[in-house]
Amino acid sequence: MTRRPLIVGNWKMNMNVAQATALAQDISYEYDRDFEDVDVVLCPPFTDLRSVRVTLGFDKSPIMLGAQNVYWQPSGAFTGEISAEMLKEIGCNYCIIGHSERREHFGETDETVNLKARALIAQGIAPIICCGENLATRDAKQTIGHITSQVTTALLNISAAELKDVVIAYEPIWAIGTGLAALPEQAEDVCASIRETLADIYGATFASKTRILYGGSMKPSNVAQFAPMPNIDGGLIGTAALVAGDFMSLVKAFL
Ligand code: PGA
Repeated sequence: MTRRPLIVGNWKMNMNVAQATALAQDISYEYDRDFEDVDVVLCPPFTDLRSVRVTLGFDKSPIMLGAQNVYWQPSGAFTGEISAEMLKEIGCNYCIIGHSERREHFGETDETVNLKARALIAQGIAPIICCGENLATRDAKQTIGHITSQVTTALLNISAAELKDVVIAYEPIWAIGTGLAALPEQAEDVCASIRETLADIYGATFASKTRILYGGSMKPSNVAQFAPMPNIDGGLIGTAALVAGDFMSLVKAFL
């Protein structure tokens, strides 16, 4: 089963409107027709979604738009929150949920990740479900159990037919933003175990179609080691997503 590679840029809380427009423009200029076999998604802050969308739209770019978070209720008295309907209206095809920074700083849990995933799927937006272990869990040799539990809870009440829209991103917390990526073999082992979990829940055929990304200090100097791994279908990129040339070299590596 060949899966379409996917490279997602997570801009985190960076880039004002002018900077975001310039970065989207630079990435769009660097985009080459040869890259059409890789799906490319930019996830700027909410306040930049519209200007990035306009920039990509003006260039008729195939690069897609994603958000970094969502709330699961459709509308109402939830001050400060953004719904899946709102993301759809502004043109998002993807949305990152359950990033470790949101789990650490904003109380996100596997249960809220599940509610968010279902709200997104109902709007036709692909959830990028993040999972990952901290160093203590890895040192205690509990990584696989931890990830299996995170993924299983995040997917509760999501059908096999709906799984086609779901992306899983494995991001070991100790590798995020540190410059020190996991070893490609370590990442592959966990991504393979995620596919086994998907196969246990949905069967091997559906599991073989789901894209699983690696994230955590993936950059131009190490991407060539990750790209050939059989269960790694792309990357969720933070630091290297803020430099157009670096980001596009990651896209190129997955061709
Ligand atoms: P990083 O961030 O590439 O800077 O490690 C990845 C992420 O947090 O998604």
